[in-house]
Amino acid sequence: MSEKLLRVENLRVSYHTYAGEVQAVRGVSFELDQGETLALVGESGCGKSVTARSLMRLNKVPPAEIKPESNVLFQGQNIYQFDAARLGRYRGQDAAMIFQDAMAALNPTMTIGRQVVETLLHHQALSKKAAREQVRILLRQVGISEPDRRFGQYPHELSGGMRQRVMIAMAFANQPRLLIADEPTTALDVTIQAQIIDLMKELQQAHQTAVIMITHDLGVVANLAQKIAVMYAGTIVERGSSREIFYRPRHPYTNMLLEAVPRLDQPEDKELASIAGTPPDLLNPPPGCPFCSRCRYCMDICLKERPPVYQFEPDHQADCWLYALDKPAADAPFTRRNDHE
Ligand SMILES: Nc1ncnc2c1ncn2[C@@H]1O[C@H](COP(=O)(O)OP(=O)(O)O)[C@@H](O)[C@H]1O
Ligand code: SF4
Ligand SMILES: [Mg+2]
Repeated sequence: MSEKLLRVENLRVSYHTYAGEVQAVRGVSFELDQGETLALVGESGCGKSVTARSLMRLNKVPPAEIKPESNVLFQGQNIYQFDAARLGRYRGQDAAMIFQDAMAALNPTMTIGRQVVETLLHHQALSKKAAREQVRILLRQVGISEPDRRFGQYPHELSGGMRQRVMIAMAFANQPRLLIADEPTTALDVTIQAQIIDLMKELQQAHQTAVIMITHDLGVVANLAQKIAVMYAGTIVERGSSREIFYRPRHPYTNMLLEAVPRLDQPEDKELASIAGTPPDLLNPPPGCPFCSRCRYCMDICLKERPPVYQFEPDHQADCWLYALDKPAADAPFTRRNDHE
């Protein structure tokens, strides 16, 4: 079967504000197969959450406007043409989403056990007793010890890491084919972050779920994602296999993000590069390359015209003028990271 699980074509989303039209997402396209993990990476404000919410039809319209040329196809069907009943099944059963802030996503007045039970009963014909039993199993699967005691606790009684595990249990409750995780570990400390990523990887593999992992931190996705899409100012500026992106980045912005990731083999006296400058204003995006104001390789043409897509490996592309002009070898002007293998 060659039909993609998810196909996003030319997604454009604007917000109509008193100051004008904020072009939050400006033509994002990508595809995902069953069981595949894609990381969507970029600095704060580049349109990751707006993209994620668009895949669940969660952007409030208005003020948001999903431009008519946008297509979000789940198993070949446009989710923007779903009626209310089909949308209800899509959300929670076909696809689920987890957020950075579990406290805001969970109901503070309901025990966590009941919340997960209700998620199950919403989509499956089960007796209450069977649902309760299944929730205990689920809580154990997401690494919550003493599930019987935890079942009756409220969200505020749990640590941040535990709450995130509950939200993951809810997301996996109905075994969705697609999971969208919007910075699920950003609010957690580093050790807990690693545990949550391991847990997601385990569940993803056990259920063959496709995952879109959204993060501002490339370091988080190194061992998780097969594919990486790097977002900047509402567009994807580079995409490729995780290996290509880490070892052979082509876009100057990707290189800058990589220089900000700590490496185990980094000499101790070498400071981490910080990311200087700010992204362009999406009320008034520049006509040329959106990265030009921060790019040390910026040329005249970069200021005037949007860069073309340059293809490297079959699955590796970057939008940058550096390669389009007269560089048949298509070498990046910056040093490649060491290829250890
Ligand atoms: N409700 C909204 N009203 C107006 N602008 C918004 C709204 N939500 C997001 N935006 C704008 O859309 C852009 C992308 O935001 P977002 O997707 O949240 O970024 P990210 O998740 O990458 O940090 C930002 O410029 C943000 O200010
Ligand atoms: S197109 Fe020009 S400004 Fe943009 S990233 Fe490439 S070199 Fe830099
Ligand atoms: Mg966000």
